[in-house]
Amino acid sequence: MQYIIAPSILNANYYDIKNDINSLRESNIEILHLDVMDGIFVNNISYGIPFIKSLRENINDMTFDTHLMIVKPERYIDRFIDVGSDIITVHFEATENIELCIKMVKDRNKKIGISIKPDTDEKKIYNYLHKIDLVLVMSVYPGFGGQKFIEDTYVKINNIKNFIDKNNLKVDIEVDGGINIHNIKNIKDSGANIFVVGSSIFKGNIKKNILDIKNSMRC
Ligand code: DX5
Ligand code: ZN
Repeated sequence: MQYIIAPSILNANYYDIKNDINSLRESNIEILHLDVMDGIFVNNISYGIPFIKSLRENINDMTFDTHLMIVKPERYIDRFIDVGSDIITVHFEATENIELCIKMVKDRNKKIGISIKPDTDEKKIYNYLHKIDLVLVMSVYPGFGGQKFIEDTYVKINNIKNFIDKNNLKVDIEVDGGINIHNIKNIKDSGANIFVVGSSIFKGNIKKNILDIKNSMRC
């Protein structure tokens, strides 16, 4: 199993993003987690298509993991792929057309993820797991970086992992929100293999923070 740190640049320095990206690259980071918020699905607005486009025009050695916290994501999936997303994750709660979202992403040969908010029962997405590449389990209420990890998430991850293994599926489990050096090992042991980390990386020295996170994931 490959364990991957996916930095969320939501709390990066947008004015000096090149510098932050270089620090990630020097730490052998291969995935960027891109949080897109519309002010309706979540109570915050972040960045969107032009920002991701200019990142892609300047970064060709990283996977773009685009987390769409927007209502009716099917309206914009193609455009987020056009500007360079490799993985598109939509929220189960944000669309009545989850099958369409899966098809749109698959038709473009990209990876599709489904995300669930902390209050959503994980069993609701079991029927789709054989069709998708990853499940994104939110371990905070989506909208803001820097929140506290919700402890109930461990059980959720474990249930999803058991279902995946029992059915011989090949689906990544990505966890997003409140991950730090104190909880990453437990999150990994619950069955997750991709860890979205925002403030624990971007507060202070990026390279040191990544090293600390990688070390605490192993021990
Ligand atoms: C929250 C976002 C997360 C968040 C992670 O809505 O989806 O990706 O920015 O940041 P931290 O690690 O600070 O919780
Ligand atoms: Zn996210």
